[in-house]
Amino acid sequence: MTAPFHKLKHEHRIIEQALRALNGISLRLQVGEPIPSNALSRVVDFIKTFTDHFHHRKEEEHLFPALERQGIQREDGPLGMMEHEHEIERQLLDELDIAIKAYQRGDDEAGRRFAEAATRYTDHLISHVQKEDNVLFKIAEEMMGEEEQKDLMDAFKKAEAEMGEGVLEHYERMAAELEEEWTV
Ligand SMILES: [Fe+2]
Ligand SMILES: [Fe+2]
Repeated sequence: MTAPFHKLKHEHRIIEQALRALNGISLRLQVGEPIPSNALSRVVDFIKTFTDHFHHRKEEEHLFPALERQGIQREDGPLGMMEHEHEIERQLLDELDIAIKAYQRGDDEAGRRFAEAATRYTDHLISHVQKEDNVLFKIAEEMMGEEEQKDLMDAFKKAEAEMGEGVLEHYERMAAELEEEWTV
């Protein structure tokens, strides 16, 4: 696996750590165990900042356009499908956010709603990540030449620098802590 795809796959593994924590939180909520609201806020912060702004944005702004230039179809094709799945994940994330605010207000049903939204989000994202890892990235790696892959890696580094120094390390640490604390 070459550098830009190795990087994206590494980010997928960090995302999976946070999803295991989210799943553990959901299971606890489903059996009525109270969860400190800052744990819910942390996990949603991870999803918003790392998964969506950091990872999905790099794919949308740099990987997908690079693949479109290689001739992979966007509209009604695999790239459009991946973008559409990112959109669904954003909608599911909004549902999680609404449920957290309700939970923080003490709404009785909010814990159950959060757990349901979390399960939908996790199932969707796991299947999305598998499609990228097992299909899209493999095709992309075969299609892209050395020069194009280097340009893609440079674009990723620039996007990361724009997010701020230490963002990757910060969220990598957060995912490990969340996994350690909440995975069942
Ligand atoms: Fe993606
Ligand atoms: Fe991805």
